[in-house]
Amino acid sequence: MCGIVGYIGKEKKALDVLINGLEHLEYRGYDSSGVAYIYNNKLTIKKETGRIEKLKNTLNFNEKASIGIGHTRWATHGIPNKVNAHPHNYKDITIVHNGIIENYSALKKELQSKGYEFKSDTDTEVAVILLYDLYHQTNDVLKAIKEFKLKAQGAYAIGLICSNEMDTLYAIKKNSPLIIGVGKKANYLASDVPAIVDYTNQYIILNDGDYAKVTQDKIIVYNDKNKEIIPTIKTFEAGSEMVSKNGYDHYMLKEIYEEAEVIKRSAHITKVNLRKYQKIVIVACGSAMHAGLVGKYLIEKYAGIPTEVEIASEFRYKKIFINKKTLVIAISQSGETADTLEAVKIAKKYHSDTLGIINVKESSIAREVKYVIYTEAGREVAVATTKAYLAQVLVLALLAYLNAENKELEVIKTLESDLKELPILIESLLAKTDAYQRIAKKIYHRNDIFYIGRGIDYALCMEASLKLKEISYIHSEAYAAGELKHGTISLVEEGTPIIGIVTDKSIADKTISNLKEVKARGAYVIYIITDELDTEGDFYDDKIVIPTTNPILEPMPTIVPMQLIAYYVAKLNKCDIDKPKNLAKSVTVE
Ligand code: AGP
Repeated sequence: MCGIVGYIGKEKKALDVLINGLEHLEYRGYDSSGVAYIYNNKLTIKKETGRIEKLKNTLNFNEKASIGIGHTRWATHGIPNKVNAHPHNYKDITIVHNGIIENYSALKKELQSKGYEFKSDTDTEVAVILLYDLYHQTNDVLKAIKEFKLKAQGAYAIGLICSNEMDTLYAIKKNSPLIIGVGKKANYLASDVPAIVDYTNQYIILNDGDYAKVTQDKIIVYNDKNKEIIPTIKTFEAGSEMVSKNGYDHYMLKEIYEEAEVIKRSAHITKVNLRKYQKIVIVACGSAMHAGLVGKYLIEKYAGIPTEVEIASEFRYKKIFINKKTLVIAISQSGETADTLEAVKIAKKYHSDTLGIINVKESSIAREVKYVIYTEAGREVAVATTKAYLAQVLVLALLAYLNAENKELEVIKTLESDLKELPILIESLLAKTDAYQRIAKKIYHRNDIFYIGRGIDYALCMEASLKLKEISYIHSEAYAAGELKHGTISLVEEGTPIIGIVTDKSIADKTISNLKEVKARGAYVIYIITDELDTEGDFYDDKIVIPTTNPILEPMPTIVPMQLIAYYVAKLNKCDIDKPKNLAKSVTVE
């Protein structure tokens, strides 16, 4: 998703801050970038498609500007080219923008009828011309912003420079995250903390409808009612180390190797009483939704509460059956996913209680829900989620355990001690690098790779398959093992890799017989199986044996091999693992 950086101050050179900040936001995904700055009373705008390196090569870093805004764009309206890249300018007003102006077409027609001409296909150009049209009537940027808020609908985080006020940045925020970094004799704008973590750990979170006037030594914030407010200054805990690879080849690998620590940090959650609800509806997207599918099996099996999993982008537009006896659980690593945020708002309209399982503290969804459980995964830089997904599954497993219907079950009674052992099991799996590299070598050149499983294993297959697709660009599908003979088995050719996940003792023999069926038809069969179930001789072509643990916790050891197989397949294919093409870390637009 797009990234914003802004700087005003004398202590640093604006261009250094802007480029450094944009590089720290690269993980969010982008296809063009640009900066605007004022030096010697002259506004300069530079934009390039592709990586930030290309933009850097066009800049003169000897120009010691003290004010500037920068942007990484993930194209929504208009193809990724220089004209559509940000910043966008019209006469005195220059802006960078995250989000979507929903009514941009109507606004564009209105502005065109006033004689304005447009160069780009973007909604952002409509925003900047609208802001100019409002500004030039009064020469007052704050008045223009107030009017803009009334006319523009949708989501916008905007950094603004006015060429007639060379010592002031403006910020406007609605439905897309924007923070103000508080420095010493300098202040910053950013769409996310990593952009400014090298300069300050003090920041102000703007709320929907807020806007601000920022100079190097003063920050004035106005709320959605246009009243000046005293903003809360927060401190960001982690230091710059979160944006370094610590010697790993990729952030994704580093984050997978943090998973044993993540389990230790996420193992103690505050119990949320699920048992007072008639039904649970999980709303999420992508990997977070896949975590929800695992959670569904565990909550239904051990807490005995009917649990549905809804893709948030579907939930928003369908007929839904929830009420005050429903708990809606929103799962989101970033806490900024537009579809999930909107699903929470809809749940509240139906008077359902809402619980967030969120990784980024103080994020929009975390602030929207009634209850929140933070996954202590630490900040994820790689676009493809790994440790946060594992933490989401762990939190859901613990919720199932804490709300167990039958506390006398052996698995419930041993859970706490099994949980203490879990990090050691994870460490043992992280050490099996050779096995993952061996398997990757056998499948990385294939065009189609299938994951199959039953029950909770099928839910794990969904994420295993997505992880492989999103970082290695290989087509993959997750299939309920029992479904193969209803169609997909016709796709099995000589050597088609089929990876079975077999951890559920109650249905293991069924999945293994499905694997034998595809083996008989030429498939290259690999399975990820627990040591207690690994008794079927050597019909397979390769396997990863994982330690058997408490069934409620078994998904965690299963997740590690599937993530590392995906990683090594992508590495062999020389893919851009931390920043897969077309993907964004946080999808803040619908
Ligand atoms: C990235 O690896 C995921 N595959 C992606 O689907 C992500 O899970 C999804 O966009 C939801 O993001 P969130 O957890 O930040 O809401």
